[in-house]
Amino acid sequence: MPATVLQDTTLFLSTYPLTSLLTFIFLVSISYIIYQTVLHPLARFPGPIICSLSDSYKLWITATDCVPEAMVALHAKYGDIVRIGPSDLHFNQPEAVEGIYKRGWPKGDFYLGFDQKNPGLFSERNEVVHGKRKRMFGNNFTPTAIRSYESIVDGRYAILRKQLDRFAESGEVFDLRKYITYCIVDILGELAFSEAFGNQDDEDPKKIPRVSEALWSCCVAGSMPSMAGAMEWLKDHLPQSAEVAELLEGRNVIFRLALTNIEKRSKKLNLDERPDMLGRIIAASEEGTGAKLTQAQVMAEAITLVVGGTHTTGNTLHLLFANLARNEEYLKRCVKEIDERLPALEVGKPCYEITGLEEKLDFVKACIKENFRKDPVGTFNMPRTVPEQGASIAGVQIPAGTQVSMNIHAFHHNPSVWGPDHDVFDPDRWYDQRNDGLSNLVIPYSVGKRSCVGQNLANANVLKMTTTLLRCYEFEFVNKDEPMVVVSHGDSDLRTPVLVKVKRRGPVFAG
Ligand code: HEM
Repeated sequence: MPATVLQDTTLFLSTYPLTSLLTFIFLVSISYIIYQTVLHPLARFPGPIICSLSDSYKLWITATDCVPEAMVALHAKYGDIVRIGPSDLHFNQPEAVEGIYKRGWPKGDFYLGFDQKNPGLFSERNEVVHGKRKRMFGNNFTPTAIRSYESIVDGRYAILRKQLDRFAESGEVFDLRKYITYCIVDILGELAFSEAFGNQDDEDPKKIPRVSEALWSCCVAGSMPSMAGAMEWLKDHLPQSAEVAELLEGRNVIFRLALTNIEKRSKKLNLDERPDMLGRIIAASEEGTGAKLTQAQVMAEAITLVVGGTHTTGNTLHLLFANLARNEEYLKRCVKEIDERLPALEVGKPCYEITGLEEKLDFVKACIKENFRKDPVGTFNMPRTVPEQGASIAGVQIPAGTQVSMNIHAFHHNPSVWGPDHDVFDPDRWYDQRNDGLSNLVIPYSVGKRSCVGQNLANANVLKMTTTLLRCYEFEFVNKDEPMVVVSHGDSDLRTPVLVKVKRRGPVFAG
């Protein structure tokens, strides 16, 4: 009997090969769908069916720049835990912040989209290696180190002041975003490569390093990790459009600048003469072995600083000025507080010193915090991998190997945490007792071991820039009635210009 069945089957297959093939594909597909949606350990979690079958949904929302909005919509529909990929769960409740990010779990498969040949502090997925690296030059980011960079940084504020004085003289309308960006990019160039990118000299937006696009392409590759290797290959082998060629050229500019300066600095390393981050990275040695970083590793770290620190800080400031422009009352209160609590800048002083600045201000800090809450710029999901034994997150048991993440924007817009007015820029919420205890839930830099190492530098620049500009200039925001358009292209980007006319509030800067 079995022999007859076998003969019949063979006969059927050879007579109807196409039908047989289609039937086979159909059966495999049905089995896959049933497994993923009914039998899989994550099948009990809600989410769009497409997400339980493939990573294509994540790929789509990343490629089309709408990750944060999509996460907000998914949580509104499915609740606090949503299955966003076959092995991915996305969380949105306060308990998950600790439950995911304070456990020391390794960064998830998403980070395969970032450089894994020579990973820097950001993309390193091995927690032991990461810990060693961080100990080697983590002192680059302490408040003391930030103060030691101040002479380098202030030179860049001096150029910004001269540019704004020029606009005050001419009465021309200009986009404040560009001038903030030129300054922040050149500061990071000076600190990470020992040389500015020349953005302040050129005043040409085309010359701004395309870090956002670079980040976006990594996020797209990482959103479908099984394809990350293939995408890397395609990037190198497909014919390039003019846009891709321009993007790669932008990347090459960064590489060339890094290479030249790393070589130069390695030969003549004098931290007393120039206490920048690059020098400290080159000088750093591993505890125990005393090993130094190779040139490729130094380069990876220097590039990480520029990619991690320019667009993020610049955009935070763009968004802050755009929010203040649309809320004149808050803008006036900031100016009043700065006038009352800070001395006027001396004629030759380009900006306020960071020491003591924070303690003197209250409302300005509330505005900065509210800007970080409403418009955080780090808006890709940040998955971690649940360890072998599985784990409980926010009281729910999650199987080993699951990719678990949160999205800072979606979390900052969770109405059950922030109330129905979560979309409103309202710094006064920080003076309302009902919000006591919510401060720790504003997490623009993430939390835990893999949170932002550059936050002291970023905070210093945000505060220095805001106080200096509001003390030295009166702003007329020309397009303040236009709605703000914010797009998440890797990280968040204010697409609406911040068009301003400025008047000097004091003497011309004479530095
Ligand atoms: C307002 C400005 C900034 C924001 C909002 C921001 C946000 C973040 C976030 C959310 C992370 C965690 C990402 C993840 O888990 O995948 C991160 C990590 C990181 N950031 Fe920032 N960042 C800012 C400025 C900077 C600056 C100025 C630098 C350096 C100069 C920097 C360097 C880094 C690095 C190296 C990491 C990886 C840290 C690690 O894994 O140990 N960031 N940042």
